[in-house]
Amino acid sequence: MNQQVFEKVDTYIGNLLAPEDSVLQETIQSLDDASIPQISVTPTQGKFLQLMLLSCKAKRVLELGTLGAYSTIWIARAIPADGKIITVEFDPHHANVASQNIAKAGLSDKIDLRTGKAMDVLNELISTNEEAFDFIFIDADKPPYTEYFELALKLSHPGTIIICDNVIREGKVLDEDTTDERVKGVQRFNQMLANNPKVTATIMQTVGAKEHDGMAIAIVN
Ligand SMILES: C[S@@+](CC[C@H](N)C(=O)[O-])C[C@H]1O[C@@H](n2cnc3c(N)ncnc32)[C@H](O)[C@@H]1O
Repeated sequence: MNQQVFEKVDTYIGNLLAPEDSVLQETIQSLDDASIPQISVTPTQGKFLQLMLLSCKAKRVLELGTLGAYSTIWIARAIPADGKIITVEFDPHHANVASQNIAKAGLSDKIDLRTGKAMDVLNELISTNEEAFDFIFIDADKPPYTEYFELALKLSHPGTIIICDNVIREGKVLDEDTTDERVKGVQRFNQMLANNPKVTATIMQTVGAKEHDGMAIAIVN
């Protein structure tokens, strides 16, 4: 019952304030066509990312977990023409579909898609003294979220916004006896976030077209 209302309201908000154009619709369709799971952010979440990007005037963005580049396209559209996104995807099949979607969106110049493990790319960016990012979106595998966040901090500056998706997992985060490594990963992450003096942070629950979850939002102090 509630889920049906959440879905309808999400569609209502999306139609009003976050309508998808044909590029975004075709990006979603490309996932079905390539047998890739529909686990992108929703349109309202894409718009939310855009508002966060605009609020910190982001030019340089790092994204971990590209899938088909749906969130990447939302992000790219909210940064200036000379902005840059590095997005990291481990699965070569996902990366291949993402690369085609980025090209179709006309965003290849802005988006540097790296195929590899998020941990490896983070360490490489740190060791090559990559300039700090203004906005970091963590949306890859959940068990190492704590480590991703700590490495992301090394690639940030005061004011950088870091958003980490899927940290509530339909409320399973409350289950202290869980054996699910993804849930354990976000439990460990949320605890670290609460005790991290380097950031000011909260978690917003998300309901809507996708299952109940949550996004952690942190601003680097
Ligand atoms: C939830 S999806 C990303 C969704 C995307 N951000 C969007 O909203 O359109 C997570 C992605 O992370 C990728 N992934 C999983 N483990 C990874 C790793 N160790 N390094 C980089 N990417 C990884 C998965 O293959 C998957 O494509």
